[in-house]
Amino acid sequence: MLPMRPKVFVSRMIPQSGLKRLQERCEVEVWPDRMPPAPEVLRAKIADCDGIVSLLTDRIDAPLMDAAPRLKVVSNFAVGVNNIDLAAATERGIAIGNTPGVLTDATADIAVTLLLAAARRLGESMIDAREGRWLTWEPTGWLGQDIGGRTLGIVGMGRIGLAMARRMHYGWGMPIVYTSRTPKPEIDAELKARRVELPELLAMSDYVSVHADLNPSTKGLFGADQFRQMKPTAVFINTSRGPLVDQDALVMALREGLIFSAGLDVTDPEPLPPTHPLYAQPNCVIAPHIASATVQTRDEMARICAENLLAGVLGQPLTACANP
Ligand code: DGY
Repeated sequence: MLPMRPKVFVSRMIPQSGLKRLQERCEVEVWPDRMPPAPEVLRAKIADCDGIVSLLTDRIDAPLMDAAPRLKVVSNFAVGVNNIDLAAATERGIAIGNTPGVLTDATADIAVTLLLAAARRLGESMIDAREGRWLTWEPTGWLGQDIGGRTLGIVGMGRIGLAMARRMHYGWGMPIVYTSRTPKPEIDAELKARRVELPELLAMSDYVSVHADLNPSTKGLFGADQFRQMKPTAVFINTSRGPLVDQDALVMALREGLIFSAGLDVTDPEPLPPTHPLYAQPNCVIAPHIASATVQTRDEMARICAENLLAGVLGQPLTACANP
């Protein structure tokens, strides 16, 4: 008799590189819609599942886990796991997988893109051109900020922070300062970088790029006080998670010229409603959380996600495990 195939729910269509591997070994149900399943639908779908592939739009909390007594693994299609109650999962012996490493370059590339766009007023000037406000070549029109040799402050020197620091240091000759929970002597040596406390970083940086994960100690890390400590010429970039930033304070900082501009790939909430005042700020460039959105990166994410899930249903160690 053939052994029972594990039952798996995949909460959205993911690339074939991962889905095919799951389908070879498991009974797979894929949520077919563009929008995520409602919480009660997700709950019903996973009731007899051994594993779930979840997205950052699915809240995986204790009551949901308790509604799935066979659940052995949640494989998140993301590196961030702030949508999952990790402590509750660990208490219940549920393995949590994520996809670190494979989206480092794509995410750092978007951080660079936003930095350049926000520094050079690209969003605003492109809209002006399209809407008929490009009247002539103007000596003082659409003036942005220089980038080469200016100081970059990296908030959170993990994999993605380091990839961003390397791009801007080697590419644009930027001196690097950074915050980090632990000293990083090898990074200091390689990039001649300096680890500092956040207030010092804010005061001295021309560009501030956020790469910290979202947890209770980083929620609301950037409020009015922090924007006040920054230079009026500073550019603020966030590709980590929206709730690290008090958005009302950011609107105020952009409106009142406490900082020069901002580039965001993440907001709070997501999607950011089209009526949100941040969209009305010409000095704010907003992308819809696309940092990992390249064909190759999403394929790799799907591959690791499938590996994690298959290991988890077999009770083996995950390729990338996020349980504390
Ligand atoms: C992640 O993986 O955490 C990104 O935010 C989405 O790819």
